[in-house]
Amino acid sequence: MTRSILITGGSRGIGRACAWHLARTEGAHLVLLGRDAQALAATAEGVRQAGGTAESHVADVTDRARLAGIARTLGPLDGLVAAAGISGMTPVDRDSDAFFDEILAADLTGPWNSVRAFLPRMGPGGRIVLVASVLGRFGVPGYGAYCAAKHGLIGLAKALALELIDRGIVVNAVAPGWVDTDMAQTGIHQIAAATGQTEAQFRAQAEAAVPVKRFFQPEEIAHGVAWLLNPANSMQVGQCLNLDGGVVQN
Ligand SMILES: NC(=O)c1ccc[n+]([C@@H]2O[C@H](COP(=O)([O-])OP(=O)(O)OC[C@H]3O[C@@H](n4cnc5c(N)ncnc54)[C@H](OP(=O)(O)O)[C@@H]3O)[C@@H](O)[C@H]2O)c1
Repeated sequence: MTRSILITGGSRGIGRACAWHLARTEGAHLVLLGRDAQALAATAEGVRQAGGTAESHVADVTDRARLAGIARTLGPLDGLVAAAGISGMTPVDRDSDAFFDEILAADLTGPWNSVRAFLPRMGPGGRIVLVASVLGRFGVPGYGAYCAAKHGLIGLAKALALELIDRGIVVNAVAPGWVDTDMAQTGIHQIAAATGQTEAQFRAQAEAAVPVKRFFQPEEIAHGVAWLLNPANSMQVGQCLNLDGGVVQN
């Protein structure tokens, strides 16, 4: 039986890798959400080449009405991956609150909106994975909004897991470390500039701080997400799976 799995942030990075992995390993039907129609179309093409089927919907996860409208067009869903997110520095002394609000809206309220919109399409056996971060496990100076959102997201996964388990729906989170995507590239650029290093110097320092001494590829995160989405997983419930090469050990 072909599973139907919705991925927010399916246009790029980790979300796209999850789509391609699920297409390749089980021929899944992927419902892809993102803001960039062209990038979504490219992911969908990759899904088809990998043996799956796909449909794309341009949507901003902060737009509840849009998400509800999409949900009304969908058939049953077996899984939801909330991977859409943004990052960036929000130093506490900055004049404006706008970026803080933007990050919280996309990274914490966005997954909440996504679960609320698509849960009615999910029955017993459903699987939900919220993509958090190691910055949901510890603080990093200058990243208050992102750390707050990702800590909050892990809390949301714990609460939803207990709320939905009696419906046969399993909720978990993942906490990736550095993953080679556009987001990581922007982060390297910003932190290098803020700390007076070259990007190569900062990257070398960041890799040295990971016990396995490297960044990860999006496909590697997709393996962890796929495990939590698997019907075989009904014991890992309300947990946050660290996918960080040994940085966090609890
Ligand atoms: N890369 C890392 O090192 C890392 C580490 C830990 C956790 N994460 C988390 O992993 C997730 C994916 O990140 P990534 O590294 O794959 O980043 P990415 O390459 O920048 O991709 C971000 C994705 O999120 C989508 N997105 C962003 N804001 C959105 C919004 N308001 N509505 C709908 N879609 C939105 C983007 O879609 P469009 O381009 O179509 O707008 C894109 O598909 C994020 O939640 C991030 O916080 C990343």
